[in-house]
Amino acid sequence: MNSEPTYDKGRHLGPTTPSSWVTRFAPLAPADGLVLDLACGGGRHGRHFLGHGHAVVFLDRDVSDVQDLAGHANVEIIEADLEGGGTLPFAGRLFAAIVVTNYLWRPILPLLADAVAEGGLLIYETFGLGNEEYSRPRNPDHLLRPGELLDAFGKDLQVVAYEHGLRHDPKPRVIQRIAAVNANAPVAIEPNS
Ligand SMILES: C[S@@+](CC[C@H](N)C(=O)[O-])C[C@H]1O[C@@H](n2cnc3c(N)ncnc32)[C@H](O)[C@@H]1O
Repeated sequence: MNSEPTYDKGRHLGPTTPSSWVTRFAPLAPADGLVLDLACGGGRHGRHFLGHGHAVVFLDRDVSDVQDLAGHANVEIIEADLEGGGTLPFAGRLFAAIVVTNYLWRPILPLLADAVAEGGLLIYETFGLGNEEYSRPRNPDHLLRPGELLDAFGKDLQVVAYEHGLRHDPKPRVIQRIAAVNANAPVAIEPNS
């Protein structure tokens, strides 16, 4: 599968193919485990996991771009505002993988760490400080400070990989991203990635 993002003129004005960071670490999710695509937009990452045999929960405040998946046996769609209070709309549920991309609401970060099942995976990728030089988002509320994802998740999860820097893919943008697992033992890292 092509893992490099492409850009179109959809509602989200964003990439429609999965991030290479997500496809790289997705195999660390326990096979067949339940996946949460949080602030899913068009659900490009949940669709990737769905295609690899996972059941997926797609959550967004506007789920119109995943309605084509309604009724799919392995799909649950939740329409909810993540910024409405101190809990998550799936409180108490645990996930084999949680994926968040291009969305940041800091109060929920500790809640996400708690929602990763034992042996499960968290992948988070969004814009970092410095991105304001190039494109939106420019509001610092939506830009991660260097090391912020490490601080948010590193004490509860085992960090497998972390990056913060300027990428050209194809437009310049400052990205911070992490892959972490809820496990103590080392995980297998593919030799060709
Ligand atoms: C830039 S899009 C990213 C979509 C997807 N994660 C991706 O990378 O393709 C940001 C998404 O966050 C969702 N969102 C923004 N604020 C939200 C909120 N308060 N609660 C739930 N979803 C929200 C938007 O509806 C939008 O789908």
